[in-house]
Amino acid sequence: MDKLLWVLLPIVLAAVAVGVAAWRGRLPPRPVLNVAFSLLLLAYLLVTAGLGIFWVANQHLPVFDWHYVFGYALLVLVVVHLGFNLRAVVFHLRRRPAVLAAAPARGRRPWLGAFGVLGLLAAAGGGYVIGLRHGRTELRIDTAAGPGGVALPLAVVERFHEFSAHTRSGVLRRAPGADWGDPPPPFKPARPVPWPPVALPAARRAQAPGAGFDVRALADVLWHTAGVSARSGGIHFRTSPSSGALFATELYVLVLDVPGMPAGLWHYDVPGQALQPLAAPAAGAGLPGLGALPPGSRALLVATALFRRSGHKYRDRTYRYVLGDLGHALENLRAVAQAAGVRATLLQAFDEAQIAAALGIDEADEGVLAAVLLQDPAASALPALDSAAWQPAVGAVGGAAVGAEHAATPLGITDAIHRATSLRTRTAPACGHAALAWQAAPRQAGWQALPVASRRAGDPLALIARRRSVRRYAAAPLPLADLAALLAAMAQPGPLLSAAVRIDVLAARVAGLAALAWRYHPAAQALEPRTRPADDLSRRARAAGLDQDVIGDAAAVLVLSIDRAAWAADPAGAARGYRHAFIEAGLAGERVYLEAGARGLGVCAVGAFYDDEVAALVGGDPGREWVVHLAAVGVPA
Ligand SMILES: Cc1cc2nc3c(=O)[nH]c(=O)nc-3n(C[C@H](O)[C@H](O)[C@H](O)COP(=O)(O)O)c2cc1C
Repeated sequence: MDKLLWVLLPIVLAAVAVGVAAWRGRLPPRPVLNVAFSLLLLAYLLVTAGLGIFWVANQHLPVFDWHYVFGYALLVLVVVHLGFNLRAVVFHLRRRPAVLAAAPARGRRPWLGAFGVLGLLAAAGGGYVIGLRHGRTELRIDTAAGPGGVALPLAVVERFHEFSAHTRSGVLRRAPGADWGDPPPPFKPARPVPWPPVALPAARRAQAPGAGFDVRALADVLWHTAGVSARSGGIHFRTSPSSGALFATELYVLVLDVPGMPAGLWHYDVPGQALQPLAAPAAGAGLPGLGALPPGSRALLVATALFRRSGHKYRDRTYRYVLGDLGHALENLRAVAQAAGVRATLLQAFDEAQIAAALGIDEADEGVLAAVLLQDPAASALPALDSAAWQPAVGAVGGAAVGAEHAATPLGITDAIHRATSLRTRTAPACGHAALAWQAAPRQAGWQALPVASRRAGDPLALIARRRSVRRYAAAPLPLADLAALLAAMAQPGPLLSAAVRIDVLAARVAGLAALAWRYHPAAQALEPRTRPADDLSRRARAAGLDQDVIGDAAAVLVLSIDRAAWAADPAGAARGYRHAFIEAGLAGERVYLEAGARGLGVCAVGAFYDDEVAALVGGDPGREWVVHLAAVGVPA
């Protein structure tokens, strides 16, 4: 709001000056006022255009706020300008230039100008009011009292996905269904508690032989997952990519057995590189809502999302972005944990409500999204997941209505989809895990064999510390060996949360590969042609990618879709499978960043695209597979 006031200040001052002049009976003549307001209009037009050009060139779309605020101011000035000049415009449109030239400067038909100005104000005001109202009513999903029984969570997922899809017609038809308010600060302030925080050692930017998994290694894991690795233009850039650089993810740690760090429940204070206690440090303390943790467990990390951080920009598509962001961050977590000699397991089932209560957070604002167990590699693997011990958090299950905890929340469909993909348990099951594997397809005639990928694993700590999104690519084609390595890296080490992710390649400029859409088959290390060759693949990809240059200029665009049948068969439940599949796509997306970094290539994750157009480009069946994520790849310019 203060932004709006500052931007409108020159207009307000000009209006006050005119008002004072009129009150003193010294109102300047109409042509003088016209020139003054025209100059103001020109200044705002230049700033608005300049901001648009700057941010598009700079590609940091989150700061677009300034652009639209100037847009509002511009609208005000256009109305004033037309008030002065509408009559001339009307005369001109009626092709009566001679009359126009002869028309006296003021006073012939004052009602015409007033009428025009009022009409414009009514149109702008009406558009604003309709924009606020439109869409709200159709968005509400009453998850507490639906008739669908156990199928209700899946129905919410379908509705959410369809509603949050970008389509050209949807841009006009839909409006945000929630009031997102002002964005929360980029970092969560520390809670007032009587226990002191623990400063963590500075993170190492390269792998170093350590003393096992101790406080230094924990500090490395946390920083490489969510730490600040660069500052520019007032934005804190993190070690993981994040849509709009908004970074909604928050990290909490249950420390069980980490030398140098007191056991207990902590919040990761990112700017302070410290752990803030949430409760009195206590050895042996567990976390409800997870099930019993097995011996050899060293720490448990819980990731949440502060929905409003992303929501004020991404609105009803927020849940997709926070899951995509999280997947990228968790892959960094996994890679650094592995380098530190511990096994990281993404837990498939946990009770969000119980964990949120233990963390002292309100799930209506900050949803619990993932939990990762860090164990000694020698510790025995988790037992099989007991699916029967978990039930969806919404819907009538076994005759009892559950999930009414947040019956009325302001975040609309974001809250609904979070609850639909959440779980509850009435028992205290063992912490289990179901094994997953990619779908295997034998290589077929007509498929393009890929060179055996020679991956350049590199040092994950160094790669993550210097990782950045790259949006400018040279015209040079992408070598086929590099594409093969990126694809192989995406599929390694196999699915961690979901086997539903499918990978296609829009090969605009890949040496030795026709320009068409290819389906990647990891087990066969081969590409299956999906569409006909197209000379205008880049142009169509750019259009489908919301006209983003990063897509149009990329040598190849990796397109990640989720197979509906596969995620609906998730051992933790169909709706939860949707969340898992999104996070899995993010994990694969981050592997592209790291492998590309090791090979000197540029990558940019892209979550903003027309869903239907990208699906058509890769030749997919939108009823069977939903496109969820893109990664633009190329040789950096
Ligand atoms: C899920 C996801 C979606 C993204 N979508 C876009 C996008 O549509 N367009 C874009 O230019 N960048 C996109 N990005 C990249 C972010 O803008 C970028 O990560 C952020 O500005 C931080 O910069 P960094 O990656 O260099 O640290 C996306 C990143 C993620 C993780």
